[in-house]
This record gives sequence, structure tokens and C-alpha cells, in this order.
Amino acid sequence: MQSLEAKPQNVSEFYSRDDWRRGYESQPDEFEGWIDDVEGAIPANLTGTLFRNGPGLLDIAGEPIGHPFDGDGMVCRVAFQNGRAHFCNRFVRTEGYVAEQAAGKILYRGVFGTQKAGGWLANCLDLRIKNIANTHVMYWADRLWALWEAAEPHRLNPHTLETIGLDSIDGLLKPGDAFAAHARIDPGAAGDAIGTGRWTTAATSKGDRRFVNFAVKPGLSTNITIYELDEAGKLASRQTRSVPGFAFLHDFAITPNWCIFFQNPVSFNPLPFVLGFKGAGQSIAFDPKQPTRALLIPRDPSRSMRVLEMPACFVFHHANAFESADGEQITIDSVCYDSFPTLEPGVDFRSIDFGSLPAGQLWRFDLKLATEQVTSRCLESRCCEFPSLHPNAVGREHRYLYIGAARAPQGNAPLQAVLKLDVQTGDRAFFDLGAKGFGGEPLFVPNPQGTQEDDGWVLLLAYNAERHASDLIILAATDLSLVARLKLKQHIPYGLHGSFVPQVFGPSV
Ligand code: CO
Repeated sequence: MQSLEAKPQNVSEFYSRDDWRRGYESQPDEFEGWIDDVEGAIPANLTGTLFRNGPGLLDIAGEPIGHPFDGDGMVCRVAFQNGRAHFCNRFVRTEGYVAEQAAGKILYRGVFGTQKAGGWLANCLDLRIKNIANTHVMYWADRLWALWEAAEPHRLNPHTLETIGLDSIDGLLKPGDAFAAHARIDPGAAGDAIGTGRWTTAATSKGDRRFVNFAVKPGLSTNITIYELDEAGKLASRQTRSVPGFAFLHDFAITPNWCIFFQNPVSFNPLPFVLGFKGAGQSIAFDPKQPTRALLIPRDPSRSMRVLEMPACFVFHHANAFESADGEQITIDSVCYDSFPTLEPGVDFRSIDFGSLPAGQLWRFDLKLATEQVTSRCLESRCCEFPSLHPNAVGREHRYLYIGAARAPQGNAPLQAVLKLDVQTGDRAFFDLGAKGFGGEPLFVPNPQGTQEDDGWVLLLAYNAERHASDLIILAATDLSLVARLKLKQHIPYGLHGSFVPQVFGPSV
């Protein structure tokens, strides 16, 4: 374990912005092969496949895009078996990717500010959305999906990452229907074993696993649809609830009885977007005078929803939620910002001043159903994002969280470390990538023979500016000590989300 006391005093001493910026160079090429350059040893019992998604292109034929969230989705998969790892990356062949690559220029406006050449007149009244399939990649019931929250998922072949096409999920989704990028998997009986000392990775006979996802249709009021798929991929339940006002809902959390959303106090002014001056994401305004609303939607469609108010904050990601034993309190851990972090039109994200943007911090909220009171406390004030935890702790009381963190103890900065937080004791472990290392979402992978919540590994795909290539880093989850560093030959631009499955999708060793 490394000391939390980083030595440099000035935030700029922790990294160079030029180093950081190179991690956002496009990676137009697709690769496949064994990873042979390994420092340390890949654990022999680390078996399964890591999938990661994120923007692979930050320009179209040399024309820069306006925001990395607008970049075409590129999926990486790393298959682990018998101490070896096999890598593959492929772009999702979305309609927009195929058309723009053929045309050699930007044909679509991006939600976060990418505009077609020609100024506002060229963009005015063009409200087509490009489904860029870049946010998450999840596997369920023999289907691998590249997810993007405003439209249908793209189905991929998990072995080759070839794009099969848009997936209606057996007719569940109509053309153009949204399907969020942040599904949660309810571990069922495997989760219910928590607290009994059993940390099994396979579900037992009762309490099936569920894939729980949502879709948002915003407007003057916002419709939220909850989909639950059973282990065979069939629809187990679907319900739609309506809430007043515009809602920007990127993520949610689940418990055995509830889906929990935070309706951030933001408004949407469509005019600058419609007229071609701004991207849709840049037309969102944060109002700190309005409360944040916790929307509690029962997973049982026959029960009523609850809305609890709390002081204004902005949340993209929740770590986890769980219920008290009597069911009267829901606790949720979330990464909170003081306001909506956005770029003004005309500001190139490559020259971003990190210090001018709010930093994410990890907070715990206790929602008391009887009194409708919400209390909160900061769990981690260091700038952090992308929380993860043991998959069987989803919706249950967790002890450990793993999260991307800044090296600097204060202020907003790139994620250059992994932090492990023991929420029971407050103990922390810290893995520092160093001045030349830039990370993102750490993923906890359970050891199949594990008996404790932190028996396993943390996988992190990190950009190494030293050699302008990415490293797949394997840490011991107990103390975040380095187990192995797998050196890819190429760099993978900073990604968004990923997942790990115990099935091996790749060539056999
Ligand atoms: Co996200």
C-alpha cells in the first residue's frame, strides 16, 4: 500500500497537461493479439473477459470533435485464461461511424458540442442524433451490447467484437428508443448471502439474477421506464413513471426493492441547440437554488414512488445503494459535484483548465422514508470518479469501494490513481500511477475462490505517457499492491465504462 501523502505541493506538479492531452489522440487502428510484454505475473485463476468502451476517435479525418463524449465508440476486450491475456479492439460500426469514415468529414452534430463545419447556419435545425455507442459495454444472456443512453444498444459478437447491429432486444425497443448506458445487475441470491459470510460468485437456487436498466424520455415532464430482464434475457417486468420537469439521468442505483435516481436541479433551454449555436449538452443550466430530488421507484410496479428532496448537487454516477434491515432507510453513495461540469462553446477540451471545473467527491446519503429527511456526509474529499464494487454487493450493504482518484489531495485534476475505501473503518489504500500515468474506471473482479468482499483484483486500463501506449494494470484488491502490468503496443484513448464476465471470449491457450 502506498502513502496517501503525495509529495508535490502544487497541483500542476502532479502531471503535465501535454502528457494528459496525448492520451486523447485518436486510435483509428484495430488490433488483435496476445499481450506478451508483462511485468509481474497474471494470476492463473483470473479467468474471464474484460470489456471496455470509450471514444476511439477524437477527430474525423483530421477535423477535431468538440468533446470526447461525442467520440465514436471503440470497444476493447481482454480475455484472461491460464495466466495469459489476449487483446482485441474494434470500433462499433454505427450508422454514423460508417457514414463519416466514408465521407471523410463530420456529418453529425454531437450532443456535447461537436458541430459540423460551416458555423451555426450549417447546424441550425439539424436535430439528428448520432448513436455513437461509446459509453458502456455489458454482457447479458448471450448478448454483448455497446450502450449509449439516448438510443438502442448495438449488439456485438463477444469473441470478435464485430458489430451485429442495433438490437431491439426481441422487440422490446422500438426504433430510436432510449436504453440507458448504466444497467445494474442484481446479484439475486448471491447478493443475499452477504452478511452470512458467504461470498459466492454463482447464484444459488433461489433469487435469480436480474439485468435492470432504464430509459429516459425528457420533456416538460420526464418519463422513466424501468426494464428488468431475467437470466434468459426475457422481459421480467416493465413499468413507466412520470416526474415533473426536465431530468438528466445518466445513472441509477438499485436495491432489492427500489430503483433510485437523483434528479439534478438542471433546466434545458433547447433554443441554442435548435438554432445551431450549442450542443444539446451545452444547453443544460444548473440551478443551485433548486433542490436535488431523489426519485425512488419501487421495483414492484404496483407500489407508489417516493420523492425526497435534498440540497442542490450534481451527480453522474452512483456507487451503490442498500436498504436498512427494517426497510425504512435507503443509503446511497454517489460522486457529487457542486455544479454541472460543462465546457462553454468554443472552448477546446484539449486546453481545459482542470482547476476551473468542480471536482467530484464521494458522498453518502441516508434517505429516511418515514420522515422524508435526507442526511449526507462526505466519504472522500479527494477528486474522484468512476466507483466500482464487488458485483455481489450491488444493492446490498457494501464495505469496500474502488474509485479513480486524483494524485493531488485537493482540487480538480485528472484521475491518476486508484483509491480503495473501507466505508466501515474509513481505512484507505492508494495506488499511484505516477506523473506519467492516467487512469479511469477501476473494475473489481472477484477471485472465484474468494471468501471475503475484497478477495479479488482491480483491473485498470491506464494511459502511460512515458511510452504513448496503454497498460492494463492488475492490482490486489486487498491492499492495491501491483500484481501485473500488461503493456499494450498501442494507446487506447481515455475510456468511459466497462465490465468483466467470467466467460472467456478469445482464443484458447
Ligand atoms: Co457513466
